[in-house]
Amino acid sequence: MIVFTEKKALKVYLSNFKAQNKTIGFVPTMGALHQGHLSLIKKAQQKTDIVVVSVFVNPTQFNKQEDLIKYPKTLKNDIKLLETVSCDVLFNPSVEEIYSENIVSEKFDFDGLEHKMEGEFREGHFDGVGTVVKALFEIVSPNKAYFGQKDFQQLKIIKKMVKKHRLNVKIKGCIIFREEDGLAMSSRNTRLNKEQRNAAPFIYKTLKKARKKFTVENADLIIDWVKNQFKKHPLLTIEYFTIADEKTLKTIKNKESGKKYRAFIAVFVGEIRLIDNIRLKN
Ligand code: PAF
Repeated sequence: MIVFTEKKALKVYLSNFKAQNKTIGFVPTMGALHQGHLSLIKKAQQKTDIVVVSVFVNPTQFNKQEDLIKYPKTLKNDIKLLETVSCDVLFNPSVEEIYSENIVSEKFDFDGLEHKMEGEFREGHFDGVGTVVKALFEIVSPNKAYFGQKDFQQLKIIKKMVKKHRLNVKIKGCIIFREEDGLAMSSRNTRLNKEQRNAAPFIYKTLKKARKKFTVENADLIIDWVKNQFKKHPLLTIEYFTIADEKTLKTIKNKESGKKYRAFIAVFVGEIRLIDNIRLKN
């Protein structure tokens, strides 16, 4: 695997592949890699000729400085993991390399997708994500880029950005990878202590119960029921739970046939914030 820290050198390297009509797959990450990331890389390897992974903890998408400082940084281990799957290229730039001196986000209009859920509770988060993903796309110039559905709202927003800014890249959403006990894989899981880790699968268990209820109950009742389950839990505090239309991400009032729905949740386990979601069947 070749490691680049400078965008100019990476661009030159990749332009040789482009000149040979080879396709580039891209997996942007913030590091602390796990099996979920590796599954994205494997998907990219099946569909493209050369795969680039970026590890860059993007400061502008954190609304709390403390969260940025505490975000796990495990580059040595990330490199080992990338080598186990024979990744071709790692791009690991510094903050200055991406932002120069001006560490601020561009302002985006994602047609309202940015105001709900993560956008409501993490001010400026999606401007930060849009800014860095657009900058990385400009550097890597991928044919296809791969994102996990755990960050379903992020995935929708990136698709929207690509469409609105007419970027020449196909966005591929990949299924959520879970631990054996159902906890969605996340870099933040490494920050959980043993007791918190044992409690965290309650999130997915509750989502599955909500999915079952959705076939017979209306959304308002289920939202109240889920919030109550968490009120009773000694270690987990719910930030939001909603049932939304997959297309608009708006909370639903009544089920309509032909529409796809998803339940979304954000939960604090101590100070660690975890998110998850599940596709619902009407
Ligand atoms: O999902 C992530 O890890 C980040 O939001 C991303 C897409 C790499 C942008 O920093």
